[in-house]
Amino acid sequence: MESMAGRVAVVTGAASGIGRALALGFAGQGANVVLADIEEAPLREAETEVAARGVEAIGAVTDVTDADSVGALAQATIDRFGAVHMVCNNAGVGGGGLVRNQQLVDWKWVVDVCLWGVIHGVHHFLPHLIQAEESHIMSTASVAGLMSVPGLGPYNAAKYGVVAIMETLHLEMTRDPDADVGVSVLCPGVVRTNIATAQRNRPAELRRERRRRPENEAASDTADARRRNANIAAALERGMDPAEVAAKVIEAMYERRFWVLSHPELLADVNHRNRQLADLENPTLRSSFADGGE
Ligand SMILES: NC(=O)c1ccc[n+]([C@@H]2O[C@H](COP(=O)([O-])OP(=O)(O)OC[C@H]3O[C@@H](n4cnc5c(N)ncnc54)[C@H](O)[C@@H]3O)[C@@H](O)[C@H]2O)c1
Repeated sequence: MESMAGRVAVVTGAASGIGRALALGFAGQGANVVLADIEEAPLREAETEVAARGVEAIGAVTDVTDADSVGALAQATIDRFGAVHMVCNNAGVGGGGLVRNQQLVDWKWVVDVCLWGVIHGVHHFLPHLIQAEESHIMSTASVAGLMSVPGLGPYNAAKYGVVAIMETLHLEMTRDPDADVGVSVLCPGVVRTNIATAQRNRPAELRRERRRRPENEAASDTADARRRNANIAAALERGMDPAEVAAKVIEAMYERRFWVLSHPELLADVNHRNRQLADLENPTLRSSFADGGE
């Protein structure tokens, strides 16, 4: 992409973390920004912060799990600006726990936000991106979309799906003579955001059911979950600054690069997985992921 100045960017999950940094990053390039998020109060703060950079900023309360809500976001963007040039399907939630302990509501919530959120974004924005003269779409997956991390079953499944959608779209767009749409997938390692408290956005109807289980079994699972959550929270605290991740995404959009890895050193783990696949060996983890973080 030649320039982002005066163009229009849409970012979901823009009230916090990587999304907020992306919105500020686009504003820094002179782009107008539509910020979408389910959490209204931090969304309004982010909108004010972006507008202070001298561009137009619009905050739109949006639930990416709801097709109509994302459709309304696309329409509001077109109504206001007449076009859209950069889209980041970034909203996501992280839920941990062993597959054996997952309830169906755990799968549903994470897949609804992390996978269906991206599907809705691609569905509603792609026609407008194809119409624009030069445009780019990015979705946020994770390193967990390139290798499976224990304790993150629903998240791994959703993020592999996001990588698959974006890879497919990239191949299709490069063969489509009517489209000038760049495609990227962001696969971050650990980034310092609010994802450890993602449960704050979990809808009431998808709350976990409390089950009666033998006391010693329940206590041991609770202790495991607490230990895992504490490890994740500590790792996030030491994680990369989201502004650094946003800068990498923006650079990739200028250069039309598909893969955006915040922590390329994690390719050693991904390549370990891919080598095992090539050799048809059973999966094992390299030591850096052995404790089940992200
Ligand atoms: N932080 C990390 O270490 C890390 C690593 C890999 C991938 N990611 C991915 O990065 C993306 C951004 O997450 P983050 O780390 O900045 O977390 P975050 O919690 O700081 O931000 C996520 C934002 O998404 C919003 N959101 C949640 N559910 C929503 C919904 N249904 N509709 C609209 N918005 C919704 C939240 O309100 C929040 O503002 C996610 O897709 C996440 O899976 C994060």
